[in-house]
Amino acid sequence: MSGITFLGVYLSFQQLSLLAGAVTALYLTFWLFLYPAFFNPIRNIPGPKSNDLLIGNLEDVFRSERADKLVSWHEHYGRAISMRGWFGTSFLHISDPQALNHILLTKSYDYPKPIQVRNFLARILGHGILFVEGDVHKRQRRIMNGPFSWANVKTYCPTFQSHANKLAKRIEQLIDNPEKTGTEVRGNYIVIDISAWLGRCTLDLIGLCGFGYDYHQLDEKDEENKLAQAFQTLLKPPEWTKAFIITTILVTQNPWLQKVPTKMGRDFDKAMQMMQVEGRKILEDRKREALSDGIEEKKDLVSKLIKANLTATNPKETMHDNELMDAVTTFTLAGHETSSLTLTWILYHLCLYPAVQTKLRQEIRAARAKALEEGREEWDADELLALPYMDAVIRESARFSPGVQHTERMAEHDDVIPLSKPIVGRDGKMIDAIPVKKGQYLHVAILPFNYSKEIFGEDAHEYRPERWLEEDLTTKVKGFVAFAPILTFLGGPRGCIGWRFALLEVSVILSTLIDKFEFAERDEGGTPITRRMNVVTRPTVIGEEEKNQMPLRVRRAAK
Ligand code: HEM
Repeated sequence: MSGITFLGVYLSFQQLSLLAGAVTALYLTFWLFLYPAFFNPIRNIPGPKSNDLLIGNLEDVFRSERADKLVSWHEHYGRAISMRGWFGTSFLHISDPQALNHILLTKSYDYPKPIQVRNFLARILGHGILFVEGDVHKRQRRIMNGPFSWANVKTYCPTFQSHANKLAKRIEQLIDNPEKTGTEVRGNYIVIDISAWLGRCTLDLIGLCGFGYDYHQLDEKDEENKLAQAFQTLLKPPEWTKAFIITTILVTQNPWLQKVPTKMGRDFDKAMQMMQVEGRKILEDRKREALSDGIEEKKDLVSKLIKANLTATNPKETMHDNELMDAVTTFTLAGHETSSLTLTWILYHLCLYPAVQTKLRQEIRAARAKALEEGREEWDADELLALPYMDAVIRESARFSPGVQHTERMAEHDDVIPLSKPIVGRDGKMIDAIPVKKGQYLHVAILPFNYSKEIFGEDAHEYRPERWLEEDLTTKVKGFVAFAPILTFLGGPRGCIGWRFALLEVSVILSTLIDKFEFAERDEGGTPITRRMNVVTRPTVIGEEEKNQMPLRVRRAAK
């Protein structure tokens, strides 16, 4: 009988297989049963049971249609919940304000994004600000703060407005020529997938304002743009089935699996190659312009970063070429669908609450009329953001349907996370701080935080823009939130750097569309829309899940 010598002992293959089986069984028993029950320092933190040994509670966390369940767990167990991930790993799902202040602000750099997630996404985003950590991140963020300041973002208002007008014109063309454009008509409305149209508009805008590139997504010729197609391939959303969750986990844990040849992998690589080539061209163009004399100063974000490089007195305070190139990809990925989906959900809420839509239209028209009376064709950015009801509608929608429902972090060191309100441990004792070990996974629970009754009152589960007019809620949470008191843009040094950009862009497009059009749910009795999360939260119609869409009825609004 053949075999091998292992640690000085000769073992037959049969003995070896038995040994391998026993080691695997011990390994699984330890991680699936013994570690969670006896060794994990967060074993006393309460949370829901999971009967799924493979992926624990992950399906409940990733399937956005189960968001109500998540919210109710935060109300039932407290604002720090322990849950199970793959193979018995544990993660904390946190919506406690003091704990989040600690993780996102005070010790932000001690809670980076999990290394597996970073490795996985490095393939797309490389050295872009979204996935770099530590000093590299601090330097990039310092340099980017200028271009993302309100003073600079305001200068994009005319571009936002001209594109909002372009979008409105395209919709008017569909209303006027439904047969020619193959648009569905229902009564005196047309039916369009508003999320697709908003996606075109925000892609154009991030291209123009982000790096001076025109994706031409609102042009009448509907030309195919290779870079836009590459992004569509990279952003193709999956269905969060159990099989997909397991595959994603295996690939993030074992990045070499990305090399296994599959059709999806090949499409992905092709799209990546296209992005690299086009990204480099864009960067070279912007650099040439920045260096050439006499050219009108370019306003886009990347040109501003190049200019900062040229004028920097300290060479350590500059961005390298590969970082600038990855900024093109990062801005497009971080700042395109997030904005269009925010607008999509706002319009959906306005369909569910027609009285809110009417009130908003009245406010917008009155302000526009006033600006015209004063001899101004368009209003400026500050004036637009000061409209109280529009502000309330945007805040309430961003609270109610955040573009991102949770984000992930990992403890870099052993630590103790403080809680603002004690929770009852599994042993019945009160817990006011959570000890975590290096490597502990954490989920920043954006949606449950936004639904918190402690902050927004007993009716926090209701969509009600008026709450923002009745009380100054913005002072309720301080410190770690960028757009207080909602967590939609996160906060602290790793919070959304583009939140002012997004807010202005959303306000300009929303005010233009609501002034001109009336929106209603596609179906008279209501359309069964649900959320589907893949980093961002997209809408889909129940029963028509083969694609993500937000079909709405649209017609010209009465004058
Ligand atoms: C309504 C629209 C938007 C939402 C809801 C949103 C949300 C977020 C969130 C939650 C994060 C934190 C992600 C994490 O750390 O896990 C983030 C980061 C970021 N966002 Fe946004 N975002 C929006 C629009 C934009 C826009 C328009 C831009 C660019 C023009 C942008 C650029 C970024 C960047 C660069 C980061 C990384 C910041 C860092 O790590 O320092 N975002 N965003």
